[in-house]
Amino acid sequence: MTNEKSAQYWANFYDARARRNTAGSFMRALGYHPADGEDYDGLFKRLFGHIEQSLDLDADHDVLDIACGYGVMTRLLGKRTAGAIGTDLTKVLLEKGAVLAQEEDLPQARGFLQANAVAQPFPDASFDRVLCYGMFFHLDRASAETVVAEVQRLLRPGGKALFGDVLHPGRMHYERSYLAKVPRPLYPVLNWALRLKTWMATASGRVVYQAYGPSYFKRRLLPGATCVTMEGMRDGRPNNKSRYDILITLAE
Ligand SMILES: C[S@@+](CC[C@H](N)C(=O)[O-])C[C@H]1O[C@@H](n2cnc3c(N)ncnc32)[C@H](O)[C@@H]1O
Repeated sequence: MTNEKSAQYWANFYDARARRNTAGSFMRALGYHPADGEDYDGLFKRLFGHIEQSLDLDADHDVLDIACGYGVMTRLLGKRTAGAIGTDLTKVLLEKGAVLAQEEDLPQARGFLQANAVAQPFPDASFDRVLCYGMFFHLDRASAETVVAEVQRLLRPGGKALFGDVLHPGRMHYERSYLAKVPRPLYPVLNWALRLKTWMATASGRVVYQAYGPSYFKRRLLPGATCVTMEGMRDGRPNNKSRYDILITLAE
């Protein structure tokens, strides 16, 4: 299995959904699931509030959002800082991000560039803050280590990075749009079927779906990193609260 093959699989996966889906199901496909009684604006505000606080954002920070999707967080980061750049594999998402930034008249969203997370097209020490949200489960272990090294290379002294990812190995967060249509009693059956499907794709070497638990992050990838676990499951179903965040800081 190569990172390139798996990266291509995921780029096509998101590309197809971005072209096909309507606003709500598109956002669910990206992994955004509002909690009970919450709309998307509320969800983005809640998630961004958490990110803003964890990263300790400042108005003069230069920020990079790796695997930015269509830039939901990139644009919010841009509003709070000197500027934010988003990179991702998926062209359709990047184009959508650029259009939305233009519509919002937001020059601080400085650009949406196509790049694999393992090789970011910026010189060393280019950013004060780096966000990498909801992407690690797409990476094999070697790539995960490379991304962490990339982030450390890109951060300025005293910089901070926040990694957020799914908490429960094997849970189909991005499939929630399908699960939502299924009667409750069938939910566990379908969930297992989806896990089997993904396991088969992973075992056959076509694709990576690898949920890293917080302990793997803390022990193997980022020894000494701070881990903040957000709230878990709602009503037995996954939602966006069941992500966790790992914060790394570089020494001065
Ligand atoms: C679940 S979405 C999260 C998007 C965004 N961070 C957000 O929170 O809205 C995962 C994103 O990771 C991107 N992605 C997957 N593998 C990648 C890789 N190797 N390099 C860069 N982006 C990648 C996908 O294209 C997709 O946009």
